[in-house]
Amino acid sequence: MKIAVTGKGGVGKTTLAGTLACILSRNYRVFAIDADPDMNLAGSLGIHTPITPISKMKDLIKDRTGAEPGSSFGEVFKMNPKISDLPESLSINYDEEGRLKLLVMGTVDKGGDGCVCPASVLLKALLRHLILKKDEIIILDMEAGIEHLGRRTAEAVDLMIIVVEPGLKSLETATRIRKLARDIGVEEVVAVINKVSSADEEAFVSTKLNEIGLNVLGSIPRDYNVVKADMEGLPLVDYPDSPALVAVEDIAENILNNPP
Ligand SMILES: Nc1ncnc2c1ncn2[C@@H]1O[C@H](COP(=O)(O)OP(=O)(O)O)[C@@H](O)[C@H]1O
Ligand SMILES: [Mg+2]
Repeated sequence: MKIAVTGKGGVGKTTLAGTLACILSRNYRVFAIDADPDMNLAGSLGIHTPITPISKMKDLIKDRTGAEPGSSFGEVFKMNPKISDLPESLSINYDEEGRLKLLVMGTVDKGGDGCVCPASVLLKALLRHLILKKDEIIILDMEAGIEHLGRRTAEAVDLMIIVVEPGLKSLETATRIRKLARDIGVEEVVAVINKVSSADEEAFVSTKLNEIGLNVLGSIPRDYNVVKADMEGLPLVDYPDSPALVAVEDIAENILNNPP
């Protein structure tokens, strides 16, 4: 299963993506991919050692895609990027058994569908060609701009989660993403409401989401444990009493019980 998490900046994409990755890795092999140029998925997993993003691994990218970093030529796609071994060589293992692996893309240039910048080629290749076994899940932490994925890549995304928070701004972004997702052919798009403080807030956002045709996969309460985890540099799964963690566990169960 390939899951992409997107939404306006600051709504909680990384918190959700990282926490989902930790939870799902209890029973699945998870590749968590940080595709947000403002890379901080590692932090939400409690990893604070410097990680070289894939966009900086020049030799490797050249080897795998035939592309010189920064160059733009249209020949790249005639070479089929060999990615079967990419996760092993590019990722860092989160745990000893290697059940959770993290890949950091770095700056993925957005030149549209025809973009041949190497990191983008690699991300697309990963999503399109990586054949997942039954017990493997990709979780992509993205930014709000998803148009650079392109149609063929978008079709490989099984589930797109748009994170929203109470307020019109993130809902406006969600509307835009919803439309983009439809344009590029993502089949399954749902919303998660984060930072919910009251039933009124949840009802307000749910109504608006229904209006734009987005089903709600789950809601996550505003929870000081999330802030504490961030300050202490630990993953949210280290706070078993966290209501937000329990909510993400429900969301994970929801995804597994109704796979896209
Ligand atoms: N449920 C929550 N309760 C309280 N704070 C939250 C919650 N979710 C996220 N935050 C805080 O909001 C900020 C942005 O979260 P983050 O996951 O980095 O968002 P994004 O990846 O969308 O930019 C962080 O400081 C995080 O601690
Ligand atoms: Mg983020």
